[in-house]
Amino acid sequence: MTIDFDAIPRERLPALLRTMPKAELHIHIEGSLEPELIFRLAQRNGVKLAYPSVEALRAAYAFTDLQSFLDIYYAGASVLLKEEDFFDLTWAYLQHAVADNVVHAEIFFDPQTHTARGVPFETVIRGLHHACRRAHQELRISTRLILCFLRHLSEEEAIATLEQALPWREYFVGVGLDSSERGHPPEKFARVFARARELGLHAVAHAGEEGPPEYIRSALDVLKVERIDHGVRCVEDPALVSRLASERVPLTVCPLSNVKLCVFRTLTEHNLPALLDAGLCATVNSDDPAYFGGYINENFVETFEALPRLTAQHAYRLARNSFDASFASEAQKENFRHALDAAFAACRAA
Ligand code: ADE
Ligand code: ZN
Repeated sequence: MTIDFDAIPRERLPALLRTMPKAELHIHIEGSLEPELIFRLAQRNGVKLAYPSVEALRAAYAFTDLQSFLDIYYAGASVLLKEEDFFDLTWAYLQHAVADNVVHAEIFFDPQTHTARGVPFETVIRGLHHACRRAHQELRISTRLILCFLRHLSEEEAIATLEQALPWREYFVGVGLDSSERGHPPEKFARVFARARELGLHAVAHAGEEGPPEYIRSALDVLKVERIDHGVRCVEDPALVSRLASERVPLTVCPLSNVKLCVFRTLTEHNLPALLDAGLCATVNSDDPAYFGGYINENFVETFEALPRLTAQHAYRLARNSFDASFASEAQKENFRHALDAAFAACRAA
């Protein structure tokens, strides 16, 4: 189908961004834990919080860099103890995702954040899985789970986590790498990623968020990842940008996160237009929506508002990229693309 993007007036763009079907490929489920749910779970589980109210907690969400965020993010996750808690967390996110017209979500989870506190791996994965299964049945959203290793911990701990996950192998489709990037290069996790690939798992990694472009190269060359999470610092290395474009390596970009963690000063300065101009397979995602001021639709709408260079054609490209870059089946991807074309056709006709 050829779409006449020029026939879509700019004032219709926010509505189109909200209603178009899209995939979310970079969402940490623990990062969707809203302050209200933190307080509800703390009460339910008898956990004492360091903040007296939801407002006081929210007021602490003023971050200066990735580490300042991670400290509060790991503290927030301490209220998650029972399978039901992981279910409620995931169910709340999936309802939000459906409201934002997300038709497919690939959800990161950090088992080590929970197993280190004595919560069994099984409790985490069963809660997540049951929410995903129910959402598929009742909300018609497709999901995949991706197990992330915490890069500030050792590779031995990552290997032990992967072994612990093996009885639940059919519940997740891939592995990822997150947490403090600086000083923890991808090559630290070469063996665990090799093992994951042997098991037929997909591989992704955070790289080039705060860390240098070399981390993107080593994520590709050593970990052999299929997507780069963030990757915005690739622009510092033009040869790397050419490689990412020619190999069509997807970047899961998270604009509101980047501003909240001071990777860019403002959304106006975000390099998403440059990434798209360079022909990269960039996507828009929410990262940790409860902490960064918005879910995927706020990321789309606020970024397009701040960057008038972004047009309806870019909106279409970003949604299309999200399907192309996903780990959905080819048949699913075809259905998603048809739904996207239909949304744009309807917008033009209206
Ligand atoms: N864990 C949750 N959000 C993250 C981010 N933006 N970078 C690295 N690790 C994370
Ligand atoms: Zn992330």
